[in-house]
Amino acid sequence: MGVAGALCAIVALLVPSHTPKQCLRDDGAAPWFCHDLDCPRYEVKQTLAEDVELRSYDAGLWVSTNVTGVKYDRAVSTGFMRLFGYISGANEEGVRIPMTAPVRVEMTPGQGPFCEDHFKVSFFVPLDQQDAPPTPTSADVYIDPAPAAAFYVMSYGGRTHEREIIDKATQLLGILDEQGLPYNFSSFFHAGYDSPFRIFNRHNEVWVRAE
Ligand SMILES: *[C@@H]1O[C@H](CO)[C@@H](O)[C@H](O)[C@H]1NC(C)=O
Ligand SMILES: *[C@@H]1O[C@H](CO)[C@@H](O)[C@H](O)[C@H]1NC(C)=O
Repeated sequence: MGVAGALCAIVALLVPSHTPKQCLRDDGAAPWFCHDLDCPRYEVKQTLAEDVELRSYDAGLWVSTNVTGVKYDRAVSTGFMRLFGYISGANEEGVRIPMTAPVRVEMTPGQGPFCEDHFKVSFFVPLDQQDAPPTPTSADVYIDPAPAAAFYVMSYGGRTHEREIIDKATQLLGILDEQGLPYNFSSFFHAGYDSPFRIFNRHNEVWVRAE
């Protein structure tokens, strides 16, 4: 399949009428899968299945970059490298910024001019910089405030890839439909919590906005 719309085609099958998000930990204990990294705060509002919950995330700042016109893997690596540049010193203060979790990718099927999928890759701004994050020097990288929002979240382990992310989103929507829960699937998210070097206890999530 070409660049145009791998997600688009699949999502069109999945959701006949496209009715279709953010993040932070409760004070005290961060979830285990954040390990020693800062990650966004949330509260679990409801558990729908063993690996599915409704989370309510606090408002928070992310740093993001948009990538359109390439496939998922390219988009994620391009986005990651831009953001990695920002935390490595490509900011007006010229400072290094600690890595956080998760690396989050928002996928908007078929939003490009040729029905290309659109990706927004984001890092969470460290908790102690939430008030005043360093300004990115690259025009492609921007500080991205996320309002407080609720998401349905499905968790799973291992190393993941585009096909599996779409499968998990499909399963999640199935559960939501079954339970008659309203959601907004104009876009959806993958959140990955681990560097490529972690072998065990890897953690992934798929997020869909709750309505
Ligand atoms: C980046 O993408 C998001 C959707 O993923 C969109 O809302 C936003 O306007 C885009 N920003 C830029 C600068 O292109
Ligand atoms: C779904 O979410 C998107 C992105 O936040 C928003 O632009 C759109 O208006 C929402 N759709 C509905 C039906 O609420």
